[in-house]
Amino acid sequence: MLSVENLHIRFRTGDGMVHAVNDVSFEVGAGRQIAVVGESGSGKSQIALAIMGLLAKNAEVEGRIMWNGQDLLAASNREMNRIRAREIGIVFQDPMSSLNPYMTIERQLTEIVEYHEGLSRRDARARALQVMDAVRISDAKARLRAYPHEFSGGMRQRIVIAMALMCQPKLILADEPTTALDVTVQAQIMRLLADVQRDLGTSVVLITHDLGVVAGFCEEVVVLYGGRIMEEAETIALFDRPTHPYTRGLLSAVPNIKDPSDALTAIPGSPPSQHRFPQACPFAPRCVDAVDVCRDTLPALRQGRACLRPVEELT
Ligand SMILES: Nc1ncnc2c1ncn2[C@@H]1O[C@H](COP(=O)(O)OP(=O)(O)OP(=O)(O)O)[C@@H](O)[C@H]1O
Ligand SMILES: [Mg+2]
Repeated sequence: MLSVENLHIRFRTGDGMVHAVNDVSFEVGAGRQIAVVGESGSGKSQIALAIMGLLAKNAEVEGRIMWNGQDLLAASNREMNRIRAREIGIVFQDPMSSLNPYMTIERQLTEIVEYHEGLSRRDARARALQVMDAVRISDAKARLRAYPHEFSGGMRQRIVIAMALMCQPKLILADEPTTALDVTVQAQIMRLLADVQRDLGTSVVLITHDLGVVAGFCEEVVVLYGGRIMEEAETIALFDRPTHPYTRGLLSAVPNIKDPSDALTAIPGSPPSQHRFPQACPFAPRCVDAVDVCRDTLPALRQGRACLRPVEELT
């Protein structure tokens, strides 16, 4: 359904080029849930913004983003508006930035479909009640009259998901939808996204820096580092047998509930400079397994891993 092909995103800045996303490819099938995982600055949000056609003005993009046979990077503004309104929804990390504090919840939900689908006020309201139900907000009739500040953080995030659902999209891009929430509410929102996926068949791309939230939710994981894919695998396989040193490092930074005595380790060092297109493995400077060749050769992604070292030889 969605196929990102050799996507490159660069930004022109006063300091030269920033290579934010370098040759990223992945696919999302109908009804699938995939996670894009990586630390801050790895290029996650820019991939989502590129799909929505919302990159900053100083961006240069290369590659293709195929959506049901159409290249979104070549689509007109008008066409992108239609796709954003009807086919692909986005949910951001901070619900307050997507909600208008001066408008009732009802108006924020109904405006979208009145404008984009020409629904009457009455039909729009009926749809709003349906999506409030889908995001498990009880007493929806009364709550539609409320303003965003009258809701808790978790409820606001549900409203933002409801907004994305108003247009009955085929795909939802969820960009760190739970980061601002406490752990129990996080779990509820993840469960909600899973229910939405199951009940409505919506595909989900979950963007997160937290491998921990991926496990129970996504079927497949794409691990990004320095704007490149390091590893790509089915979630179960990735947790069972990570084959890239970076993924191994990330996993040993996730607490192990079964064995709390298991030490948490941090990956030493800091993310790479993005002022040059990578000429070598971007993770090599921080990699415990790096050898000389890693520092001057850029590994290609083969069989789901971009690493020059054989798996058997990793520490
Ligand atoms: N308009 C811009 N001009 C220059 N550089 C930019 C611009 N927008 C983003 N970048 C850079 O692109 C890189 C990737 O940014 P991105 O927002 O995708 O990171 P991220 O993985 O979403 O991180 P986080 O987890 O912090 O949200 C960063 O180094 C960022 O500074
Ligand atoms: Mg981001």
